[in-house]
Amino acid sequence: MSDVTEIIKKQINQSGKKREVLLPILQSIVERDHYLSSESLLQVAKSLDISAADVYGTASFYSFLETNKKLGKYVIRVCKTIVCDMQGKREIIEAIENCLDIRIGETTRNNKFSLLYTNCLGWCHKGPVMLINNEVYTELTPDKVRRIINAYKQNKQEEL
Ligand code: FES
Repeated sequence: MSDVTEIIKKQINQSGKKREVLLPILQSIVERDHYLSSESLLQVAKSLDISAADVYGTASFYSFLETNKKLGKYVIRVCKTIVCDMQGKREIIEAIENCLDIRIGETTRNNKFSLLYTNCLGWCHKGPVMLINNEVYTELTPDKVRRIINAYKQNKQEEL
């Protein structure tokens, strides 16, 4: 049994074979694989008896469910919405790009970091803001961002 099958089976056992389990299944696959492959999407559709188009439509609606390419272990999402933009988002992006030697939309060669934009994260009063996986980092400055990234590089993010 493939790992995707196990994820699907676990969710169906917990909550029943219904449409509501689609999102938790997709989230669990992304958590494990860092993206949703076409094979995984097809397998989910088949297991839940819903169309592949429906599954793909749900996956592509949510920007946090990556369907295009495999992302790094740590996905950095910098808010690009207007308040963070006015509070210096561009300098934050540049600091991260220089720190990781990648551009926005790219993943480091060791697959440890991906850098993406995201829309408003609801922390506008503390911008600029970024997420690294599920952790929110607020009131960023280029220096603060370099410290955060370096802690992740050394797997010491728990000290932040
Ligand atoms: S505009 Fe960036 S968190 Fe709202």
